[in-house]
Order: sequence, then C-alpha cells, then structure tokens
Amino acid sequence: MSEFVTTQQIGDAADFVRAHTSHRPEVGLILGSGLGPLADAIDSPDVIATADIPHWPASTVQGHTGRLVIGPLAGHAALVLQGRTHFYEGYGMDHVTLPVRVMIELGIRTLIVTNASGGLNPNYRPGDLMLIRDHINFPGMAGNNPLRGPNEERYGPRFPDMTQPYDPALRALAHRVAAEAGFALREGVYAYVAGPSFETPAELRFLQMVGADAVGMSTAPEVVVARHAGLRVLGISTVANLAQTDPTPDAVVTHQEVLETGALAVPRLIQVVCGVLERLSEAG
Ligand code: HPA
Repeated sequence: MSEFVTTQQIGDAADFVRAHTSHRPEVGLILGSGLGPLADAIDSPDVIATADIPHWPASTVQGHTGRLVIGPLAGHAALVLQGRTHFYEGYGMDHVTLPVRVMIELGIRTLIVTNASGGLNPNYRPGDLMLIRDHINFPGMAGNNPLRGPNEERYGPRFPDMTQPYDPALRALAHRVAAEAGFALREGVYAYVAGPSFETPAELRFLQMVGADAVGMSTAPEVVVARHAGLRVLGISTVANLAQTDPTPDAVVTHQEVLETGALAVPRLIQVVCGVLERLSEAG
C-alpha cells in the first residue's frame, strides 16, 4: 500500500459523501475547537458521521465531534466539517488534509477555516476574532508540508504559489460585515505549531519575535492544500487565551479554557461567516 493517501481513496470518500446528500456544496467550512455550533445555523441539513466515510481519519479530541453537516447556509450550499483531525493525533499530513481534497472533488471552490488560538499580540484579548492574513507553517517549513510526496497534478502544481494564502477580498468583506454589526476584527499572522503541548514561555517569545500574532495547532496544512488547488480561503481565529510569555506562578493554559472562550466568540463568528456568505458576490 502507498505511503500516502491516494486519489482513489479521496475519490471513494467523495463518492460516499455524494451518495449521502442531495446538496451540491460550493462552500466548505472547517470548524475549530468549541466552534461547532456554527453548523446549527444550517436548516435541516444532511448529517454524515465522518466515522462512516471510507479512509476518513477519526477525530479523537474533546470538542471535535466528527460530522459533516451539509445544507443551505446564508444563501449557499455549504459543507461544514465539525471535528477536524490534527497532526498531533498521530495522523500524517495527507490524512489531516484529506477532508480538503474531498471538498475539492465535490466542487467546493471557497473554504472558510476557523480555529482557536493563543494570543501573542499584546493588544489582543480572550474572545477576540482575528482574520488570518498570513501564516507561518512551522511543521511545513521543517519538512512536514502536506504536499510532500508525489504531486497529484489533478490538484495543482508541484511548486504552488503561496503569496496570497488568505483571500484579500474576502478579508475586506469580513471587516465590513463585522464593522456594520458593531464590532471589530483583528487581523494578523497565525503561527502553526504541531502541539499537543502548549508552548513554553521561551517558545512564545520566539513566536512573537518572528512576527506571529496568534499561535495554534491547526489550519495551515488545510490552507496549503486548498491553495494548491486554487481555492479561495478565509481564515478566522478565535483568541481563546493569552500567551503566558512571563508567567505568574499559578499560570496554566487548559483545553477547557480554550473551549469556554471559543464558545463566547461563537455568536460573533456566526455573524461574520453568515454575513460574508450572504454578500459573497461583493468579493468578486
Ligand atoms: N497555543 C497553541 N494552540 C492553542 C492555544 C495556545 O495557546 N490556544 C488554543 N489553541
């Protein structure tokens, strides 16, 4: 058997999804820790347990139920993935990004990715929403790029451009939607680290020095695979906790805190995502 996920396996997974919904999604959404309720905004969706989909990696993390929720969202046929898988769970990057390839096979051309992150920018506060302008893919730069291995021309070129990973027009639209709803979005650089241990104070100071505004354990692999195939990407990060660069003796970061703060930001996240989808034609 091949070391990497094959196009045949991706095709099998896509066929399974197609056979279990009559919707033809054009927009894909991947939801981060604690952000699952966004899927509730879909009216009478088709729901597929990812455990039933052939070759789909199982999500093992609390706050990440593995389901696809497919149906109309703010005027578009959408496919929402609740419960992504992460590299730290032990999967290869090809499995972590299999859902994006399945979305591509289904004809999705716009991807909205969300995550929970730790705030590195000293101006950020827990509960802030940050549009991702750019990312630093630390595992990718060190060799664990999801495009490592044979290039599938079907999905894109061997050496894909990454100068505009997060679509400028979609970001501008998201800012307008938020401003009209009466709140502001941050915009910054997301540092992707493998996890699962949270960062040490020295690692956090390092990330600040190299220009990161938030740090988290997801998203960059999926975005690289999406951009490889030319999808338009919008990335939104919920700042769940603040980096403890100079920790007090009792300072701790917990997954529970990440989930709870994520929940606080969900209503604003839903407003931004639905507003962007309703007005997608404004972004060209
Ligand atoms: N670090 C890494 N990932 C995270 C954090 C963090 O502080 N918060 C939520 N996801």
